[in-house]
Amino acid sequence: MLHTHGEPGVGALLHADGPTHAAEPDIITLPAPEMEHGKSLMQALKDRQSSREFSDRKLPPHVLSNLLWAAFGVNRSKTGGRTAPSAHEWHEIEVYVSTADGLYLYDARNHALKRVLTRDIRVETGLQSFVADAPVNLIYVADHSRMVEATEEDRILYAAADAGFISQNVCLYCASEGLATVVRGLVARSALARLMKLRPSQRVILAQSVGYPAGTR
Ligand SMILES: Cc1cc2nc3c(=O)[nH]c(=O)nc-3n(C[C@H](O)[C@H](O)[C@H](O)COP(=O)(O)O)c2cc1C
Repeated sequence: MLHTHGEPGVGALLHADGPTHAAEPDIITLPAPEMEHGKSLMQALKDRQSSREFSDRKLPPHVLSNLLWAAFGVNRSKTGGRTAPSAHEWHEIEVYVSTADGLYLYDARNHALKRVLTRDIRVETGLQSFVADAPVNLIYVADHSRMVEATEEDRILYAAADAGFISQNVCLYCASEGLATVVRGLVARSALARLMKLRPSQRVILAQSVGYPAGTR
């Protein structure tokens, strides 16, 4: 399904590192993000909107790379600083990427994807029918174990805020690139967490569908 329209897709980026099994997930190195690209910030802000109708055209590797870097990539290599702010520099939000090829975890430091599941779980990333059509559903997961010395109330508050900054970066990248996107709170969090095999310290915060607008090839 993902390999329609002649685009290579995520699977094509898999390293031939041997067989896939739970202990040794496949590692996918993403192409370097493109910095000299896109609309002006003001134009992107003018164009930002939520869209819920997606083409089944998959995202080419360079677009996925740009999307993830914009979301929460490393923009200061010396310090490991990221494109979105993070309370106390906890960097507690993990960006999971659900595609037809499986579920991946974005490794910002190496600008790579780690395969977590080989199953297509897109339909289970939300409660709305379009989530199955979007080629990419991002899932923002907070790891509370990184939020040291915080009260439970602060963990919930700061994780929600930090996920919101990442989501807005994605919104602006999508507006700049002509992609459709909608951030989603309508998620069956506990069921999804079980499916994703999350640790007890990890909480699903939001999901975000991304793809080309319906009707575009
Ligand atoms: C925290 C949050 C959760 C949202 N959850 C959903 C959702 O589950 N499903 C959905 O279709 N839209 C969701 N939205 C999108 C809003 O409905 C949308 O932003 C609002 O209608 C304004 O439209 P606009 O984004 O085009 O300006 C959510 C937005 C936010 C900020």
